[in-house]
Amino acid sequence: MKKMDLEDLAAVFEREFHAEAQLFRAPGRVNLIGEHTDYNDGFVLPSAIGFYTHVAVSPRDDRKLVLRSTEYSGTFEFDVSNLPHQKQGTWCDYVLGVAQQFAQAGTTIRGANLLVHGEVPVGSGLSSSAALEVASALALQSLNGSKFPLKQIAKLCQRAENEFVGARVGIMDQFVSCFGEAGRAVLIDCRSLDFKLVPIPPEVSFVICNTMVRHELAGGEYNQRREQCELGVRLLSKAYPAISALRDVSVDQLTAHESDLPPLVYRRCLHVVRENERTIQAARLFQSDLATVGRLMHASHESLRDLYEVSCSELDAMVEAAEGLPGYIAGRMTGGGFGGCTINLVERGNAQAFAETVAARYRERTGVDADTYVCRAADGAGTETRKAGV
Ligand code: GLA
Repeated sequence: MKKMDLEDLAAVFEREFHAEAQLFRAPGRVNLIGEHTDYNDGFVLPSAIGFYTHVAVSPRDDRKLVLRSTEYSGTFEFDVSNLPHQKQGTWCDYVLGVAQQFAQAGTTIRGANLLVHGEVPVGSGLSSSAALEVASALALQSLNGSKFPLKQIAKLCQRAENEFVGARVGIMDQFVSCFGEAGRAVLIDCRSLDFKLVPIPPEVSFVICNTMVRHELAGGEYNQRREQCELGVRLLSKAYPAISALRDVSVDQLTAHESDLPPLVYRRCLHVVRENERTIQAARLFQSDLATVGRLMHASHESLRDLYEVSCSELDAMVEAAEGLPGYIAGRMTGGGFGGCTINLVERGNAQAFAETVAARYRERTGVDADTYVCRAADGAGTETRKAGV
């Protein structure tokens, strides 16, 4: 991940736009447990991680929105009075989607220059898109004079991805990017948007292992899983008229009506209702019983592999490569699936050696060099303060 000094980013901005920048940032995330539950109104337990997307911004006197990136070439110019309604197929879509949402919320968008620097590896399932959306939202809002509370910012960014980019993602990534805290995971009730911070024991490190298989959420599989869950709810509501999401269904209620559902839909629903239970239990035991948390994470991976069918051979190989290594507490695939990363909880002193051995084992099995990131839970989005006098 390409870390960049804030002063360097501000200097590049000033050189390219001849204006002084304000800086905002928003992090990527790793999900510890609670996968494919958010869009079922369920529970998730992610942490923000210390890889941020930074957005430098300044106002313009005309009606142009000018976007540049430190990683991708090109300057993109849009008219804020006439923003495109169709996605453009570039990284700009996440910013445009957010600008569109501000416009739909009745906010006047000012002309602005934006320079984006992303540290979150793209397509790795660590929510580089949510980080870009949230950081852009904070940057644009700073010029609009609007002051949406953070929960509304998270929802606005989710809608940007749903409506403009076309991925029907849940609220988890944008929410934790806003509300993450150093040293803590965030147990989110994705229906009420109430949340609870769950301290991660200081002796535990996250080791994130990237299969290097790019995952693509806008691809149909993710949206298909959502539709299968929705079908499950429609069929189950004949027996349970009060339910409006799988969140409302218990394992017993589901198993009692197995024969009312197509087998595939039943397996998808079974994953979701059990995963909700595992997530609540894991959040409760994080301080007291990491061994059980480990078993729950393992069960989550098996369920995502066998019932929800969003794992892939590389993710399975990466999970297996971790087993039995010194300091290993737990591991599973993380995020939407079909590639991306595994998350491993590892005793701090062993984390670096663990990461190297997993990468070596993965190389032996697949021939691929994996990136690994040893990190800890980090703070969520906000303004970046530059050193005084610079
Ligand atoms: C992606 C989506 C999230 C969530 C996960 C699966 O990361 O953006 O909303 O649905 O997949 O848990």
